[in-house]
Amino acid sequence: MKGIILAGGEGTRLYPLTRVTSKQLLPVYDKPMIFYPLETLLRAGIRDILIIVAPSRAGDFLRILGSGKTFNARFTYEIQDKPEGLAQAFIIGENFIGDDTVAMILGDNIFENDFSKDIDNFTSGAMIFTTEVDHPERFGVVHFDSNGEVSEILEKPTKSESNSVVTGLYVYDNSVIQKAKSLQPSPRGELEITDLNNLYLCEKNLHVKRFKGAWFDTGTFESLFLASAFIRQKNL
Ligand code: G1P
Repeated sequence: MKGIILAGGEGTRLYPLTRVTSKQLLPVYDKPMIFYPLETLLRAGIRDILIIVAPSRAGDFLRILGSGKTFNARFTYEIQDKPEGLAQAFIIGENFIGDDTVAMILGDNIFENDFSKDIDNFTSGAMIFTTEVDHPERFGVVHFDSNGEVSEILEKPTKSESNSVVTGLYVYDNSVIQKAKSLQPSPRGELEITDLNNLYLCEKNLHVKRFKGAWFDTGTFESLFLASAFIRQKNL
């Protein structure tokens, strides 16, 4: 299985911290943020990893991560010219993925859990990982029908009765490339990962795994601070 870390975007919500470097390189306690999602992939045995970065910050990533040798891995780099959505990663990464399956993790997502068993057992379709949060409106939200089956995923709904959200680790079979190409940009001009996941759901090929451990999407000052405090305490 191949791996992708998506670390594009300008991190405008974290200005002025992100004026001179990328959000995904900001410190989370004692390491750059991207080291944590990288560790999640490495722990699952994924060593061939594409890192997708914004053009203005590419040099910073190369300086800190290099070829991957020091991590016992192989890194490839691609540029995402504009932040046109998470699902664009599979179009940018088409050649890198080749005929393989792929796990993508967002460069600002920090997980306490080890997902290696789930990833090892993956065969086809798509696999997403969900957890419960107090304010689901910031995320992709999973809705269930009366039988407890997933009925739909909604991207950042203004109001939600479900507090089950999709976190930034996704595993896909090779059809993800063609599916990503078939997407239309959303009203905010992005190829949405939620639309991609809903395509798998329609095919009855979406595997949803709920987990309990800590999870941070460190895209805000508050979550960045909380993630640092958590890492310091746990010494992850
Ligand atoms: C993205 C996705 C969202 C998902 C979240 C997880 O949102 O669009 O569905 O729940 O990542 O971190 P973003 O944080 O890019 O706004």
